[in-house]
Amino acid sequence: MKALWVVGLLGLVVVRCVQGYHYLDGVNGNATQPLLVDLTLIRSAAEKGAVCLDGTPGAYHLHPGSGSGANSWLVELEGGGWCNNIRTCVFRKPTRRGSSNYMEKQIPFTGILSNKPEENPDFYNWNRVRIRYCDGASFAGEGYNKAAGLYFRGQRIFSAAMEDLMSKGMHSAKQVLLTGCSAGGLASILHCDEFRALFPGNTKVKCLADAGLFLDATDVAGGHTLRSFYEGVVTIQGVAKNLPGKCTAKMNATSCFFPQNLLGIIQTPTFLLNTAYDVWQIQESLATKNADPEGHWQACKFNYLKCNEDQIKFLQDFRNQMLHATNGFSKCKQNGLFINSCFAHCQSERRDTWYADNSPTIEEKGIAKSVGDWYFDRAEVKAIDCPYPCDKTCHNLVSR
Ligand SMILES: *[C@@H]1O[C@H](CO)[C@@H](O)[C@H](O)[C@H]1NC(C)=O
Ligand SMILES: *[C@@H]1O[C@H](CO)[C@@H](O)[C@H](O)[C@H]1NC(C)=O
Repeated sequence: MKALWVVGLLGLVVVRCVQGYHYLDGVNGNATQPLLVDLTLIRSAAEKGAVCLDGTPGAYHLHPGSGSGANSWLVELEGGGWCNNIRTCVFRKPTRRGSSNYMEKQIPFTGILSNKPEENPDFYNWNRVRIRYCDGASFAGEGYNKAAGLYFRGQRIFSAAMEDLMSKGMHSAKQVLLTGCSAGGLASILHCDEFRALFPGNTKVKCLADAGLFLDATDVAGGHTLRSFYEGVVTIQGVAKNLPGKCTAKMNATSCFFPQNLLGIIQTPTFLLNTAYDVWQIQESLATKNADPEGHWQACKFNYLKCNEDQIKFLQDFRNQMLHATNGFSKCKQNGLFINSCFAHCQSERRDTWYADNSPTIEEKGIAKSVGDWYFDRAEVKAIDCPYPCDKTCHNLVSR
């Protein structure tokens, strides 16, 4: 009995030591401190007009690859909503979303951008880039508004950034991945085939869209909040000419800003990572203040545990629309999906959701592993979660 007690105590001490060691490691050895990467202005941005809303040069953060990753490139397009009229675009000018003067001079590289194998097993030693988002139209606009002093140069920022990175070694890449989250996830869909065309046929090129599956859905009042919003973005920023021609030949430009109308024409292998209950879409597209003036959704949209039966039914229908929109896409062998039944928005850029001990899983496989298996053709990944509330591995990240 006594011996057992001693063993138990020893076990406790060992666990404590391990935890203590990790803790000290983090504080003294900076093992858990994320890498900070400097801001670089795009070369010849001014000359090419590759400028933010306020006319300052576009920019990116690049951490060079090493070892087996020295010839591989991961390019991430930053997200951050859109602006759909003069007022909201002018509002962005004195912020990091509209001016490189206001961008952080250094940012932490976490999740899929992390340089640590224990946090990012497949891409940690690649060349990794975050292209800053300061145009407000998912890197797809082209125009200028003189009266408001607004430059809509998203497409030029994308092109000039690619050219700059090509000159820094990306031209000889063996394998590349274009990714992005939210408005950047949409951008990675919009630009996927264009990105593919920058490389020779024998370069491995794939695209990953995280939380980019913005649906042309009916809001809680029966209207089309997001379609109206996108119509403003597309019109004011001159997006139409930069959208895939195969789509605009068939439908209007606003429709071609919705991924569901692009998934069928993208030829490059693509992975869709999304929650079925994307909290941005619930808050900003489905249950907005305008669509819900009496606030019936107020509690539910910020805390899914407070949703009533009808609201859950509405959200399940939204999930069904998402699955319907990806049905044809998922039948294509080269594509991948991870649609989990969580309440979140963006899961590839955070350490806790990308690759940690308790990260979200579908059938016990986490997000980093799923994306890696698909990218490297280790396995087909068509992971679609059962509907809420079956998933117990979610990190429900609902914020206002
Ligand atoms: C940890 O990082 C901080 C800030 O980057 C630095 O000042 C400090 O010297 C580092 N500590 C160790 C032990 O490397
Ligand atoms: C674009 O097409 C959609 C779907 O057919 C339609 O509902 C919408 O009104 C159209 N928008 C414009 C600006 O024509």
